[in-house]
Amino acid sequence: MTDTLAIVTGGSDGIGAELLQRLAAHQPVLNISRRKHRVEDVRLTHPLYQLNVDLEDPEAALKILDNWLSDRPQLKASKFFSCAAQLAINQLNKVSAEEFSKLMVLNSWSPLAITEMLISRGHLATSNSRFVFVTSSLARAGDELSFARLGLYSASKAALGRLVEVQRREMSLGAQQISSTLVHPGIVATAMQDELRNDLYSDPAFREKTSKLPAFREGDWDERRPSMPELSFGDRVVFGMAGAYASSMGSGFSGVARPAEYLLRNGSIEAL
Ligand SMILES: NC(=O)c1ccc[n+]([C@@H]2O[C@H](COP(=O)([O-])OP(=O)(O)OC[C@H]3O[C@@H](n4cnc5c(N)ncnc54)[C@H](OP(=O)(O)O)[C@@H]3O)[C@@H](O)[C@H]2O)c1
Repeated sequence: MTDTLAIVTGGSDGIGAELLQRLAAHQPVLNISRRKHRVEDVRLTHPLYQLNVDLEDPEAALKILDNWLSDRPQLKASKFFSCAAQLAINQLNKVSAEEFSKLMVLNSWSPLAITEMLISRGHLATSNSRFVFVTSSLARAGDELSFARLGLYSASKAALGRLVEVQRREMSLGAQQISSTLVHPGIVATAMQDELRNDLYSDPAFREKTSKLPAFREGDWDERRPSMPELSFGDRVVFGMAGAYASSMGSGFSGVARPAEYLLRNGSIEAL
């Protein structure tokens, strides 16, 4: 019998560590990072496996991962999350060829190399496999997102995005049913974010942009949703698209009156 496995790179810390704990509530998880996730701190429902490898040397890491999975044919990967990455805070004109290739290999090439190996070596579950690549808003082009001393990191994330697009295209030509997604986590209080904010020489524009942002907390998204002004009698609330969920779907058991509803169709308003 096969069991589906979730693989997370960078699960020892930050976003990957959090993700790993949530995934382990549903299925076995394999963490790939240099350090171990501190399992003793959490209770996990499913097994957590750990491969402590350095993704700056992805060829060695791939061999170890391939061997590990080949020794466990009952485990097939249904999810792959790429979180492992590093910053390289430096002026572009000071970046050496060695620093450049090290960061590009870790942040851009290693996630692709792992997924390609999983496909070609038959380590994926046969249906509904999913790749999720964690990128950054700094991968996007635009003056307001191009900060001094973050050029190499931003470029490595932009390269990852482009590589993922091409991989997606190649997978579709090969008729491989694997969903592949790039996600931008926003700003999350992790060691990486601390390193950025504590860089004394960082671009004043970056410091200003992030200074008023609170550290991430559970529920932030709900709190930041645009708030609606208080409604008063006679106000109209307009939904761009209500789908089937008009108030006719509501329950009338309490006898509370429902609001009148109108539909804007082909330029005219109809009472429902
Ligand atoms: N935090 C944010 O605000 C933010 C914003 C945008 C995007 N992101 C992206 O989100 C992802 C996670 O970031 P984070 O903030 O959680 O970072 P983090 O706390 O610094 O964690 C980074 C993880 O990557 C692993 N890693 C680093 N170098 C490695 C290597 N050579 N080999 C294997 N693993 C390595 C680390 O594990 P070991 O040290 O144990 O190897 C660690 O588990 C990254 O891709 C980052 O670019 C973060």
